[in-house]
Amino acid sequence: MAPSLRSFSLRQALSVLFLIWSSLLVAAAPAVFSPENGTMASEPRRIEKRQTTATSKLVFAHFLVGIVSNRKSAADYDADMKRAKAVGIDAFALNIGTDSYTDQQLGYAYTSAANNGMKVFISFDFSYWNVQDPAAVGKKIKQYASQSAQLKIGSKVFASSFLGSNLNVPAMRTAAGVDVFWAPNAAAYGTSAANLDGALNWGAWPNNGANRAPTASANYSVESGDATYKAWLGTKPYIAPVSPWFFTHFGKEVSWSKNWVFPSDLLWLKRWKSILNSKPQFVEILSWNDYGESHYVGPLSSKHTDDGSSKWAKNMPHNGWLDMAQPFIAAYKAGATVPEYFISAERLVYWHRPTPKNVNCDGTDNAGTKPDGWNQLADSVFVVTFLTAPSTLTVTSGSNTRTFSAPAGITAFQVPMGLGVQSFLLKRGSRTIFSGQSPLKVTNVCPCGIYNYNAYVGTLNAGAADALDSDGLAQFNVGLKSGTCTS
Ligand SMILES: *[C@@H]1O[C@H](CO)[C@@H](O)[C@H](O)[C@H]1NC(C)=O
Ligand SMILES: *[C@@H]1O[C@H](CO)[C@@H](O)[C@H](O)[C@H]1NC(C)=O
Repeated sequence: MAPSLRSFSLRQALSVLFLIWSSLLVAAAPAVFSPENGTMASEPRRIEKRQTTATSKLVFAHFLVGIVSNRKSAADYDADMKRAKAVGIDAFALNIGTDSYTDQQLGYAYTSAANNGMKVFISFDFSYWNVQDPAAVGKKIKQYASQSAQLKIGSKVFASSFLGSNLNVPAMRTAAGVDVFWAPNAAAYGTSAANLDGALNWGAWPNNGANRAPTASANYSVESGDATYKAWLGTKPYIAPVSPWFFTHFGKEVSWSKNWVFPSDLLWLKRWKSILNSKPQFVEILSWNDYGESHYVGPLSSKHTDDGSSKWAKNMPHNGWLDMAQPFIAAYKAGATVPEYFISAERLVYWHRPTPKNVNCDGTDNAGTKPDGWNQLADSVFVVTFLTAPSTLTVTSGSNTRTFSAPAGITAFQVPMGLGVQSFLLKRGSRTIFSGQSPLKVTNVCPCGIYNYNAYVGTLNAGAADALDSDGLAQFNVGLKSGTCTS
């Protein structure tokens, strides 16, 4: 629900303030929002804001180093650095295991970040790192501490984690030998926050408290996780998670089963609005490149190896979600609760799954069952408009056509999913502002025989096509019961 831009005098006052502030920034500001192969609207941009320096409010994006062993140079990181920076992301949280290539890739990433005006920090993945060996963690922090792209808070070297609650933090600090800002993904219960500088909550999705979709009797919102962490941390900085989606579907091709969704639908929009109200010290986008869990906002073309997730990531770009984040990130950094004034370009972002949720793939899918939580997804096509003036939106999903008034500001729409072509038309008076259709049709045929509850995300005007390369597709046919599949 977007507020009207005209109905609230406080907003008008804020607007004037922001206009004054932005005019002071104009000389130093880089070009307005221009993601690589970006999606600039045809309308003149009335509202242009750009943060030129990081304030104490920072936005991170979680980056899996474990799937980029095929990168050969710092330059292989440049596109990610540039695209993240263009939307206002300050730093990549470089999630590392203990692979033979980890240091080489960290070296490339730190160099590329330095070359592109970005920051990075290490995020230890304690599925691989050992909480019983705090010295190893400290030494790894020390190894990269003096790199110019290292994120620091004051003089403290920022480091984080996935898991790792029981690390002996004083021993880690001793081994590091430098001041460390330790903000791990520690559980906000059963442990003390006394030795920490902050903490990251991984609970970016509505859940049942046991890492699955909510149930009627156990139903935790993302915001309830915020409250738990904040109460635990007291005044220490909180890293709030924000994520657009969750679908993972590893079947019998692996020895470990991983087959569930979290209800996501309009989560990305709702969560950003909630972030603007709660104003956490830091925000972490989960994730930049975790294709396996379908919560990537980075491009499919971001160079990576295939962990088997290409079966559900192929032809499913998520760039529109990153486009969507731009005004929210700018508003968050400015301390504003209203993102509308930070729309750098008019746009329409849409997303939908490839099939209705009831389509049965049991016989041809290598997991053989629908992902846990599947029934909590809506059979809808979602549209969010970012507009500087009122318009009329028509969405056609198969045989379902709906027409809406789309006000100025940021507004979500939801249309029942129909089989066939998904098309979008935005008009202002008789003038067409955006017109286009999703490259992905909705069908009742299991894509390559599998359950695929990932989303196709598109932006109008459409940017360049974005696709997995041969490394990113290397495992595509592994685990397909149909043998091979080209679609
Ligand atoms: C993006 O646009 C640039 C020119 O602005 C072009 O050189 C590059 O090939 C494009 N990338 C893709 C993936 O199309
Ligand atoms: C969990 O709570 C949300 C918010 O009240 C509600 O929309 C959703 O349907 C609930 N989920 C279940 C499985 O009951």
